[in-house]
Amino acid sequence: MKRKVLSVLLSAAMAATLMTGCGQATSEPAPAATEEAAPAEEAAPAEEAAPAEEAAAEGDLIVVGYAQVGAESDWRTANTESFKTEFVEANGYKLIFDDAQQKQENQIKAIRSFIQQEVDYIVLAPVVETGWDTVLQEAKEAGIPVILSDRMVDVADDSLYECWVGGNFVKEGEDAAGWLSEYLTTQGRADEAINIVTLQGTIGASAQVGRTEGFASKMADTWTMLDMQTGEFTQSKGQEVMESFLKQYPDIDVVVAENDNMAFGAIDAIKAAGKTCGPEGDVIVISFDAVKAAFESMIAGDMNVTVECNPLHGPRVSEIIQTLEGGGTVDKVMYVDEGVFPAETAADIIGERAY
Ligand code: AHR
Repeated sequence: MKRKVLSVLLSAAMAATLMTGCGQATSEPAPAATEEAAPAEEAAPAEEAAPAEEAAAEGDLIVVGYAQVGAESDWRTANTESFKTEFVEANGYKLIFDDAQQKQENQIKAIRSFIQQEVDYIVLAPVVETGWDTVLQEAKEAGIPVILSDRMVDVADDSLYECWVGGNFVKEGEDAAGWLSEYLTTQGRADEAINIVTLQGTIGASAQVGRTEGFASKMADTWTMLDMQTGEFTQSKGQEVMESFLKQYPDIDVVVAENDNMAFGAIDAIKAAGKTCGPEGDVIVISFDAVKAAFESMIAGDMNVTVECNPLHGPRVSEIIQTLEGGGTVDKVMYVDEGVFPAETAADIIGERAY
């Protein structure tokens, strides 16, 4: 192991607040904090702690392997960028980044390679929830803490990972249905029969499982879910699936796209079929993520609402690592705060969006 033992002066620029329980926000900058690592004889007193830059110059870096899902969406690009910006030498890190191209077997290979390389921490954004027990057991036996980010794993033994930080996908699904219910009421359509189709994310991914479940739990009696199919969280697959929905179902009132990129594909398919969408259109478009391009789409009148899923986990994971390095403990499950952005708010908010 290349594990370092040093006092770490947390960068004041670290832009995240480590949550101390489910449902607490992470979007506010953390106050600068000094953490001292044991053993004492090897650790400089806090006031004399070497800045991270100095540690980096000495080659005394915390090595982090990040097993990323892929590059399937704008959200994912922002997430990757967040890690690549945070996990730099100037902050005391060496990042080994692996893009699994949406394949679980590639992530498993990446984790085994991180274990061989004796990294200090493994960060995993799992493609799907199941199938991780064996490889996480290997990481545990190698003494390497695993931090889950974004999506969850479904394992028999939760000591196989240190903690998880991400969005509350079930709540996102509930919020989307809650928005639809209110919107239909304001449109005088509360009692109308409403036909819905859903473009699901990668089947078995937490973001798919949670959003599908959350939306289903809030379905009104007057709503019918005509069909649900995966668009793999990509724009091209979202477009393809929406094209086939439009051929099969002549009377779609609402499309729920489980991420913005699939919504963009769906909007293209709706327009190509000679229909319109958005607040003034034939089809209501509900989406998730709240990337900048979704705000542009709402301003253009194509999308009705996007439910936020915050991808900026790099500083959050960094803060978790610094806490662990300092001998502290972190909560097992940490949710980030997320909002709902309807089209009428888009023009005012787009300038504030960080991704
Ligand atoms: O797990 C988060 C989801 O993964 C985002 O909604 C989606 O855009 C990404 O691909």
